[in-house]
Amino acid sequence: MNHKIPFYDYTFNYKKNSSSLKGIFNKVCSKGAYILQDELFKFENEIKNYTKAKYVLGVGNATDAMQMFLMCSNLKKNSEIIISSHTMVATASAVYFAGYKPVPVAFGDDLLIDPKSIIKSITPKTKGLLITHLNGRTCNMDEILKICKKYKLELFEDAAQALGSKYKGKYAGTFGLASTISLYPAKILGCFGDGGLILTNNKKLFSKLHKIRSHGINEKTKKIDHWGFNSRLDNLQAAFLSFFFKKHNENINRRRNLAKIYHKELSGLKTIKLPPACEDKINYDIFQNYEIICEKRNKLKSFLDKKGIGTLIQWNGVKTNNLSLPNINKKKLISDSNFNKLLLLPMNISLKDLDVKTVCNEIKNFYK
Ligand SMILES: Cc1ncc(COP(=O)(O)O)c(C=O)c1O
Repeated sequence: MNHKIPFYDYTFNYKKNSSSLKGIFNKVCSKGAYILQDELFKFENEIKNYTKAKYVLGVGNATDAMQMFLMCSNLKKNSEIIISSHTMVATASAVYFAGYKPVPVAFGDDLLIDPKSIIKSITPKTKGLLITHLNGRTCNMDEILKICKKYKLELFEDAAQALGSKYKGKYAGTFGLASTISLYPAKILGCFGDGGLILTNNKKLFSKLHKIRSHGINEKTKKIDHWGFNSRLDNLQAAFLSFFFKKHNENINRRRNLAKIYHKELSGLKTIKLPPACEDKINYDIFQNYEIICEKRNKLKSFLDKKGIGTLIQWNGVKTNNLSLPNINKKKLISDSNFNKLLLLPMNISLKDLDVKTVCNEIKNFYK
């Protein structure tokens, strides 16, 4: 259905910048520079400087990124890795394919993995956490780092939705042994296809991943040092990403301003629980998504649909503790009832202030 206020307009970035993008396409293609070339290294450096991660690698997508860094982390096979029940299946599948067991736990009112539930789920087999900085908000890192220290757990981060998000001034994706950022088109920094990044501060891990993303080849000796993947961020995509990255902070500000409008307009409604407000001293939220917990979720969704407003239920409404797949914990969780009330409202830079106000007015009309 064509919405007058779409959930996400996949043509927006191209239409707005088509002449610059065509220039970039021409430049890169006329050099024939497609794989592992200067534009990729330049983009990796830009992310390194921005996030202050020591090492950054461009890879095929965030799912590969997580599988690769988990495989390289040398935890005992079949170890349990705790994840959130509110994350993409990709977080769980990366754990599974790396040879470990994903253990989903409850999320809190902020929709992020709940530290108390992590503690309750730790067993002698638990060796790591792969936390998701969901919707562009960094998890409660003080609590999580304490848990990792106390129970000797390795920390990994799914920062797929969180480039630019901070906790007490430190960037999401720079707390654990390794992390990923997704560059999927609808992400806050998205390309024209799949793409992802690995961030790490660990030199040894970086040098292994550097080879593993490209068939295990050692660039210096040209020997194959490891079994590897073919998972490299395309040079052309990297060139486009560098172009979009120039406006990254501006785009974050725009999203934060839209979030403020949602907050102002909707905070009086008792039928809706909103995400934490922008004026939070600890978290700097980039609002990749604006996700509400709402009564009569499915009815609200179809009401808005009829009014020409697109919304989305993340993961098609399937939580990771409810996947009918082998080798994953399927325990019922305290957050399950909230999970069925989640709805993403439109949140992106193609929206005008008035669009967000219209969405809010229609939500108010629905609950009248
Ligand atoms: C929380 C989360 N994790 C992982 C991924 C997977 O990212 P990619 O599509 O780049 O593999 C996504 C992408 O939507 C995501 O939102």
